[in-house]
Order: sequence, then C-alpha cells, then structure tokens
Amino acid sequence: MSSPAGEPILRCADLWKSFGPEGRRVEVLRGLDLEVRRGEMVAVLGESGTGKTTLLHLIGGIDRPDRGSILFRGRDVAAAGAHERAVYRNRDLGFVFQFHHLRPCSWPTSRRAIWTRETPRPSSRSSSTCTAGAA
Ligand SMILES: Nc1ncnc2c1ncn2[C@@H]1O[C@H](COP(=O)(O)OP(=O)(O)OP(=O)(O)O)[C@@H](O)[C@H]1O
Ligand SMILES: [Mg+2]
Repeated sequence: MSSPAGEPILRCADLWKSFGPEGRRVEVLRGLDLEVRRGEMVAVLGESGTGKTTLLHLIGGIDRPDRGSILFRGRDVAAAGAHERAVYRNRDLGFVFQFHHLRPCSWPTSRRAIWTRETPRPSSRSSSTCTAGAA
C-alpha cells in the first residue's frame, strides 16, 4: 500500500553508531535524526569519513545502530531480525554501491552500469571506473 503524498516514509530518531574496540572506539553517528517524505529527494553530503555510508547501511538494513530507531513506513528496521531486514532490502529499497558488493562489469556491454572515476575499466578504452551493478 502506498503512502499519501508528502507523508513521512522514513524516520530516523536518535541514531547512534560506533566502530572499533573499547578505548579506541570511533563514534560515527551521535544521535542523528532524519525524516524523509514520500517523493522527496535527499542527498547526504559530507567529507570523507563523516558517516554517509554508515547511515545508508543502517537505513538499508545492512547494519544495525547501537541505539535509535529507523522507521520505514512505520516499521522499525533497526529492531527487525535478519530475515525481516533481508525481505525489506529485497522489496522496499535499492542500493547502488560505491565500491564493493559488485560483480566486475564488462566493457563494452549491453547491460546498463554506473561509471565513476575510482575503478579502472576492464579495457584500455578509458581509465574511468565501474562501481555499480548492471541494471
Ligand atoms: N565496518 C567498520 N569498521 C570500523 N570502522 C568503520 C567501519 N565502517 C566505517 N567505519 C569508520 O566510520 C567512519 C565513517 O565511515 P563511512 O564509510 O560511513 O564514511 P563516509 O562518509 O561514507 O566516507 P566516504 O565519503 O569516504 O565514502 C570512518 O572513520 C570509517 O573508518
Ligand atoms: Mg561512503
């Protein structure tokens, strides 16, 4: 069932996430709040290492926050089990990964791919990169 236009579809409240062992812990997200409405386009901007990917992994159900809630259409992704999060990833959202989790792309190819600057193409035609999977 789709939500009415303008209604909040995603709500993150008081999200905390840190990495590393005790004593050398890096606190990446410290009480982050975010609300995204249906049809809204949002860009997360910030310097390298500020936690953009960390946030998207939490919203995408790939990782879980230390604390806080992530409500997608009213369902708490942060509290969901592995299976429920897998179904959520399968049905409710799409990821274009920046680097990994991707199969190598062939070039030229009939498949659609997103090209960025980081990874060499598998031919000598260009030094551009392929980071996203085929459509
Ligand atoms: N799995 C992990 N284990 C340990 N530290 C991590 C892990 N994931 C992220 N970090 C650390 O968390 C911080 C935020 O990383 P993150 O990848 O979210 O940043 P980013 O804003 O996406 O950076 P970039 O613009 O380079 O992609 C960095 O200090 C990073 O080293
Ligand atoms: Mg990143």
